[in-house]
Parts: sequence; structure tokens; C-alpha cells
Amino acid sequence: MEARKMEETWKAVDEYFEEKLKTTDDIMDHILKETDDAGMQQIEVSKAHGKMLYLMAKMAKAKSILEIGTLGGFSTVWLARALPEDGRMATIEADPNHAEVARRNIASVELAAPVDVIEGQALDRLPKLMERGYSRFDLIFIDADKENNVEYLKWALKFSHKGSVIIVDNVVRHGRIIDDTETQAIPYIRQMFDMLEHDGRIESTAIQTVGQKGYDGFLMGVVK
Ligand code: SAH
Ligand code: DHB
Ligand code: MG
Repeated sequence: MEARKMEETWKAVDEYFEEKLKTTDDIMDHILKETDDAGMQQIEVSKAHGKMLYLMAKMAKAKSILEIGTLGGFSTVWLARALPEDGRMATIEADPNHAEVARRNIASVELAAPVDVIEGQALDRLPKLMERGYSRFDLIFIDADKENNVEYLKWALKFSHKGSVIIVDNVVRHGRIIDDTETQAIPYIRQMFDMLEHDGRIESTAIQTVGQKGYDGFLMGVVK
């Protein structure tokens, strides 16, 4: 065990949880395979993290969910599984190929509530969500281009009510978040933390994670 590289141990522990806690199943494995077969980057949340999103949506009794950054729909389906029949989910994806794979994956799953895959740049699509009949979301998951996290967080707050849950993926990036010499993505994620430092509208925390996907972390908050 000691000789093992830490990364290998993180993976092995995630595999242990996979077996004991059923952090995956045939449906989710199918989605991962379809996404992989389509030649897309395997940058979806980990299995344990996917199930955590589902559990968080259940805890929040979410009926309306917004996701920014769909990829192949892995996190989308985990979140959508938590929705009741009168629920609804929107997920925004800029890459037409990703959106197509996601639509196919979502269509292959039996879900109680509809999932709207909205194709386009999130900053173009977010202002038009009202036209599609969306007003407030109970849970918002931000997981797209990190450079726009501040803008996404502002939109998330606009679409929130008291008690809305906001989750942002990839806020640790192997610890690089505290490196102020970083030039890619990190400065923008730091801008989001600067906003949170001064913004009184949301109570938040961030959790560092290790596992299948290495060392990263997520931010979570509840709107006051
Ligand atoms: N949430 C997914 C992973 C998303 S990966 C999961 O965990 O399963 C990030 C996705 O955001 C990619 O598919 C990428 O194409 C998309 N993306 C990047 N920039 C975007 C933008 N400006 N607007 C919308 N989607 C964007
Ligand atoms: C990466 C991982 C992610 O979860 C994401 O949303 C974007 C990029 C990555 O590892 O590069
Ligand atoms: Mg991510």
C-alpha cells in the first residue's frame, strides 16, 4: 500500500465505493461508453461525484435544474434522475457534437421529467431562458468554460430563489487555484472566489476532492 502511488490509491478507493455504494450502474456505464466512443474528452465528473450531484438534487427536493456544460450528458442524467414527474431540467452546451451525443444519451434513459438540451454559447443562451418558460431554478450546476465562471455565477444568482443550490465544478485543479502566477483559467476561477468574498447573497463552501479524476474540488452554496 505505501509503495503505491497516491493517485492509484484514490482510483482504487473510488472502485471500492463503486462496488459497495453502487456509484454507477448499466445506464451510467453506457453513457460513459457512448461519450468515449464519440471521441470526446473524458472530463465528466467522477462516478461518485455524479451520484453526489443526484443526492444533492434529492436533498434540495429540486424540481427545476439548470446545468451549464453538458458534454455527453453524464452529470445531466445523474441530476435529471433526481427530478420528480413535474420537474424540468435545462442544460446548455456550446459544441453541437457534444449536444447531439448528450441528446442521444438522455433519450436512451427513462426519466420522469423532461430534459432540454440547449445548444449554443451559454452567455447567449442564458438571457433567453425566460422565453423558454424558465424563471427560477432550485439547483444550478456550473461546469463549462471556467473563464466565464463569474458571469455564470451572476446568471445563477439571477435565476435563483431563497434556498437555491449552486454548485461549481473544478475549482481546485490540483491545487493550482492558490497559485497566482497561473495564466490559464485559474485567474478567472479566482475572480469567482473574489466575487464570493464580497457577495453577501450566497452562503458557500468548497470541498477538495481526490479520486478517479485526480485532485480537484467543487464549490457549493445556498442562496440566502
Ligand atoms: N458536466 C459534464 C462535463 C462538462 S465538460 C459532466 O460532468 O458530465 C465542459 C463542457 O462545457 C464541454 O462539453 C464544452 O463543450 C462545454 N462548453 C465550453 N464552453 C462553453 C460555453 N461557452 N457555453 C456552453 N458550453 C460550453
Ligand atoms: C476538465 C475537467 C472538467 O471536469 C471540466 O469541466 C473541464 C475540464 C479537465 O480535466 O481538463
Ligand atoms: Mg467539470
